[in-house]
Amino acid sequence: MSANRYLVSFDAHQTFHRFTDILVIGAGIAGLRAALEVPSDQSVLVVTKDRITESNSSYAQGGIAGVRSPDDSFENHIQDTLVAGDGLCDRAVAEQVIHGAPSQIEKLVAWGTKFDREEGELALTREGGHSHRRIVHALGDSTGFEVMRAIIATARNAPNVSLWDDTFTIDLLTHEGRCVGAIVARTGMGRFHIWANQVILASGGCGMVYRETTNPPVATGDGMAAAYRAGAELRDMEFMQFHPTVLYVAGSARYLISEAVRGEGAYLRDVNGERFMPAADPRCELAPRDVVARAIFRTMERTQHPNVYLDLSHLDPAMVLRRFPGINRVCRGFALDITKDQIPVRPGAHYMLGGVTVDSQGCTSLPGLWAAGEVTSSGLHGANRLASNSLIEGLVYGTLCAQGAAEASRKMGRNLTALPLQNIIPPPEIDDRLDIADMTAALRSLMVRKMGIVRERPRLLEAQHDVEFWCRYVLTRDFDTRAGWELQNLLTVARLMIDAALQREESRGTHFRSDFPTRDDAHWGMAHVIAPPRLTEGEPAVPSTSGSSATAVVKPPQEEF
Ligand code: SIN
Repeated sequence: MSANRYLVSFDAHQTFHRFTDILVIGAGIAGLRAALEVPSDQSVLVVTKDRITESNSSYAQGGIAGVRSPDDSFENHIQDTLVAGDGLCDRAVAEQVIHGAPSQIEKLVAWGTKFDREEGELALTREGGHSHRRIVHALGDSTGFEVMRAIIATARNAPNVSLWDDTFTIDLLTHEGRCVGAIVARTGMGRFHIWANQVILASGGCGMVYRETTNPPVATGDGMAAAYRAGAELRDMEFMQFHPTVLYVAGSARYLISEAVRGEGAYLRDVNGERFMPAADPRCELAPRDVVARAIFRTMERTQHPNVYLDLSHLDPAMVLRRFPGINRVCRGFALDITKDQIPVRPGAHYMLGGVTVDSQGCTSLPGLWAAGEVTSSGLHGANRLASNSLIEGLVYGTLCAQGAAEASRKMGRNLTALPLQNIIPPPEIDDRLDIADMTAALRSLMVRKMGIVRERPRLLEAQHDVEFWCRYVLTRDFDTRAGWELQNLLTVARLMIDAALQREESRGTHFRSDFPTRDDAHWGMAHVIAPPRLTEGEPAVPSTSGSSATAVVKPPQEEF
């Protein structure tokens, strides 16, 4: 089996070119925060594959964590982050991000974000794993929508920032061991080679690799897969965080029911009306997400019922309606009154904790490439992300990446040229028709069944076998559609995830192996599972071994690249 360095054939002599000091891939919170940090004398081009409003960030409900109350402290927030991360967080990274949170929140206010207030002060809520109320929110439960409204408006007004929507990044361009730009497809305008002094990857996560997910359809792991093909290091791909409470009613998309609902006092009940969290964990409904998601999974198995229920009926109805207008609107569409009815929920894939390895400035292992947000593994989240720590990570690392990239770009000067890169993929010998939608559905279903909340070696080996087989005839094709490239990226990411899950023979955070059900610090300590980077151009992006695990080596985090 072989796979190509680039997904598509191209000849740089025969495409459109665009030159920019800094290329930002992704227009979620990390990407736009980065764009806005680049000094005004440097040009920034932001590309995003859909409408600019269509990112995971826009769908964030709960809020942004940041210490603001005198009862709270940075150390409390750091400790909560480390506890949730189950021994795999990097404390220095947690310190950097958490100390940076208050000023980033102030910046958002300055850019026009209207956070909810009580008596003039920013209102604070609580979510699972937090010892204090420290989460700012907006429009009740639509924080991401309001934050992105303000930040998009600010970016549109920045004279040095150009925004290209409907622009799919097919691959990162590399030359002589460094990232030099990207090849993109603009809807209705064709392919472009974008040449950049420095590239910032902020393309988000890959929740769409699962059938049950809170993520919008854009979350197909494109940046992770492109970085992998380009030779950047990825790590910890076994850690997909499942959000405990996703609305589960026939006909509804998998709509997130914010953790803030439990933060305000909602209970989880099984189909018989019993609360099951008090027996599962002393923190009850406010235990960290991995604990709650597993307790729900076990309750569903025990009761042989496909979901559990969120119960808000004991809470003040006025408070419930004021705090959760968006959730109320969606639930009413399914004839559910959240102040009275039990809301059917079950866990769904929510946030990828692994990704492109970055150092404390957002620098990847590939020169010229920086990364921020969900596409990365920075060390903040460890094996399980603390609720509402993701937007703040995107803001802090977006800022750091931009500062580093701008400085590096300035040193390089304005001498960008198009390089004579070429890539030829031979057409398939037989023109069979591949049903991309069917393949994508099969992959997403396989991941739920065999690489879900609870994993074990035989199921993982079956998943690995199937995904390798699919890779053999999908990754070698030269597609011309977004759906085709997304399928190739989902397969690449799925394969890395399964290989890493096989590799990690312990249970930690979001990664639970029923055949290795305990955390094993003696063998694993602070170790990360590293996906092997491609070493030279032309080598297969996905190793060609069949049957055996293609991932990886394990190395402790202190070994920096
Ligand atoms: C939620 O509102 O429950 C999601 C917040 C998060 O993922 O951090």
